[in-house]
Amino acid sequence: MVKAEILKALRSKSSYLSGTQLATRLGISRAALWKHLKKLRELGYRIEAAPRCGYKLLSSPDKLYSFEVISRLSTEIMGKEVYFNEALSSTQDVARQLAGKGASEGTLVLAEQQTAGRGRLGRSWLSPPGGLWFSLILRPKEFSLLLLPVVAGAALLLTFEEKLQVSASLKWPNDVLINNRKVAGILAEGERELDVVHFVILGVGININNPPPEELMYPATSLSKELGRQMNRAGLLAYFLQKFEELYLLLQEGRSEEIIQAIQPKLAFLPTEICLKQGTRELQGRIVGLQKDGGLVLRLPSGRKQTFYSGEITPI
Ligand code: BTN
Repeated sequence: MVKAEILKALRSKSSYLSGTQLATRLGISRAALWKHLKKLRELGYRIEAAPRCGYKLLSSPDKLYSFEVISRLSTEIMGKEVYFNEALSSTQDVARQLAGKGASEGTLVLAEQQTAGRGRLGRSWLSPPGGLWFSLILRPKEFSLLLLPVVAGAALLLTFEEKLQVSASLKWPNDVLINNRKVAGILAEGERELDVVHFVILGVGININNPPPEELMYPATSLSKELGRQMNRAGLLAYFLQKFEELYLLLQEGRSEEIIQAIQPKLAFLPTEICLKQGTRELQGRIVGLQKDGGLVLRLPSGRKQTFYSGEITPI
C-alpha cells in the first residue's frame, strides 16, 4: 500500500523529506511517487513541495481511507487488514462475512456511515457521517462476550484520557460516558458451535464530529460537543487500536484481573444506587465492582452481594 507508506514516511519527519529519499525508501520511481502525491492532494492532503528541500505534509483530511488508517498504525494484529466503505448497512455484517471466509484476526471494517447500524438488545444505532463506526474480527482463546466489551471500553477510556485529556467512565457492560452522557457503545457478537469458538465481531461506535442523537433511552453526546472542537478520527482510531491490542494480549495471557483492577475505579455510578434491568426483571443495588470475568458485583438492599452477567444499569 504505497499511499500508506508515503504518509507514514512524511509523518515520521517534521521537516522536509526529499523526493529521492522518499522514492528510494518506497522502492518506486520519482514519476510514480509524483503520481501518488498528486492523487493524495486531490483527496485533500496538503503536501508542500519546496524546491531543493522536498515534501512536507501540512495537513490531512478527516477521512477514514484504508491507507490513511494503515499509515497511522504500529500495531501487530489490530488493523493489519483494513476495509473502508463510504456507506454500509452495518460493519458487523461485513466483518462477519469476511470472518466466515477466513479473514485474519484484527481485520478492521469501517464505514463513513451505516444505513442499518445496530446496538445491543436489538436496538438500532444511528451512524451518520462524522462518527467512527467500525468492527474488528477477533479469534480469542477465551470466548467472553462480556469481557471483550469491557476490555474495549477500557481501551476507549485510555484513548480519551491520554490522547484527548478528557475523563470518561465505563457504564457496565459496554457504554462509555463523558459527563454522564453516552459517547460510545460497544457490541460483541460471537459465532460459536458447541464449545468451538469461531470468531467474535467486536463493533465500536463513537460519536465524534457528528451531532449526537437525541431522544435516546440514555442521553448522548459527542467528542466534538464535549471538547468544543472537531477532531481527526483516523488518529483517534489508531490510538484506540494500539491500546486495545495491548489489553487484548493481556487477556489472551489470562491476565484479565489486571485490566479489571485498572478499570474498576472508572465505573460509572460508583457507589450510587442503581437499577439493573434484565428483560422484565428490575432490581436495585449499589455497584461494588467487577469480577475478573467481567461480571458486575452489586450489593443488594438485603446487604448480600451478587454478581450479574447481563442487563442494563441506570442511576436512580
Ligand atoms: C450499543 O451501545 O448498543 C452498541 C453500539 C455499537 C455500534 C457499533 S457501530 C459499528 C458496529 N456496527 C454496528 O452495526 N454496530 C456497531
